[in-house]
Amino acid sequence: METATASGRPAEPAPGYVHGYSAHETRRLGDQADALAALLHAPTGDPLHDLHDRDERDPNQGTGYAPGARVLEVGCGVGAQTVHLLASSPGIDLTAVDVSAESLARARERVTARFPRARVRWLRADLHDLPFPAAAFDHLFVCFVLEHLPDPAAALAALRRVLRPGGTLTVIEGDHGSAFFHPDSAAARAAIGHQVRLQAAAGGDALIGRRLHPLLTAAGYRQVTVRPRTVYADRSRPELVEGFTRNTFIAMVQAVRGDAIAAGLTTPEEFDRGIADLRRTAGEGGTFHYTFFKGTATNPADPHERPDGGPPC
Ligand SMILES: C[S@@+](CC[C@H](N)C(=O)[O-])C[C@H]1O[C@@H](n2cnc3c(N)ncnc32)[C@H](O)[C@@H]1O
Repeated sequence: METATASGRPAEPAPGYVHGYSAHETRRLGDQADALAALLHAPTGDPLHDLHDRDERDPNQGTGYAPGARVLEVGCGVGAQTVHLLASSPGIDLTAVDVSAESLARARERVTARFPRARVRWLRADLHDLPFPAAAFDHLFVCFVLEHLPDPAAALAALRRVLRPGGTLTVIEGDHGSAFFHPDSAAARAAIGHQVRLQAAAGGDALIGRRLHPLLTAAGYRQVTVRPRTVYADRSRPELVEGFTRNTFIAMVQAVRGDAIAAGLTTPEEFDRGIADLRRTAGEGGTFHYTFFKGTATNPADPHERPDGGPPC
C-alpha cells in the first residue's frame, strides 16, 4: 500500500467542513459504516426488483466489483467504508483519495489492520482536479461526500472524466428531511434543523439525497437509478438503536452544539433539550426512521446517449 500527494493541492480541506476531523468524528464514521453495511451494500431482495429494475447495475444489487477491477473511492475519509468495499470485493485494484492527509493516514491504518495484503493506493487530492488520466477507472464509489460540496453537479462531471466509458458510479447520500421519530419533539427537530443550516452555510446540502437522480443526469451520467435505503430502529433492533440512532445520528447532531450556539441559532438549554429528546427516541418505547439514497449510473460510451437510455438523439 502506498500514499502519495497530488502536487499543488491544498494541504487540508477548506475550513467549514461541518463534521470536522476529530477523534469523535473518526469513531462516528466507523460506527456509521459498520451499523449500515448490510443496509447500504447488500442486495435489497426487493420483491419489486424484477418489475422495476431489470438492469444488473441497479442499486438494489449489492456494492461489489470483480477481482482486478480498477476502483476509485472518492473522499474515503478515515477508511470506514473502504474496509467494507474490500470485504465485499476481494482482489480489486483500489485507489482511495481524500483532501485530508490526517484522514488518509487513519484510513491506511484501519485498512492495513484488516486487509494487510489488499492492493490499495492512497492519494491526497481534491476530487475536482484528480491527477489521473482520462478513463483510468472501471468504477467510482462516492459515499457521504457530495453533501459537503458547494457544486455537486460540477464535482460529478469532473469525476466522470476519470471513469472509462461504460464504467459505473455508485453514490450514497443521506437526507436529513427523512428523519422522523417517536416521541416527536419540536426541540429535537430544531436541533436537526441547526445542523442542516450550518451545513448549508458551509456550502453543503444535508438534504441532498432527494436530488441525486437529477444531479447524476445533469452531470452526463446515464442509466441512472436511485433507490431509498431506509433505516428503522426500535427496541427489537438494539444494534441499530446503538449503532445508528445513538452513535451515528445523535452523535452527528450533538457535534454541532458549539457552532450552533456560536452562530446564534440556539441557546445551550434549547439545544440540550433537543438532544435529550433525540435520546428518548433511542430509549424504551422510542423509534427512529431515516432514509439514505443509493444511486448507480454509467458513463455513457456514446456521449449522445439519452438520459432515458433510449437510442442516441
Ligand atoms: C463525511 S466524510 C465521508 C468519508 C467516507 N466516505 C465515509 O463514508 O466514511 C466526507 C469526506 O470527504 C472528504 N472531502 C471533502 N471535500 C473533498 C474534496 N474536494 N476532495 C476530496 N475529498 C473531499 C472529506 O475530507 C471527508 O473525509
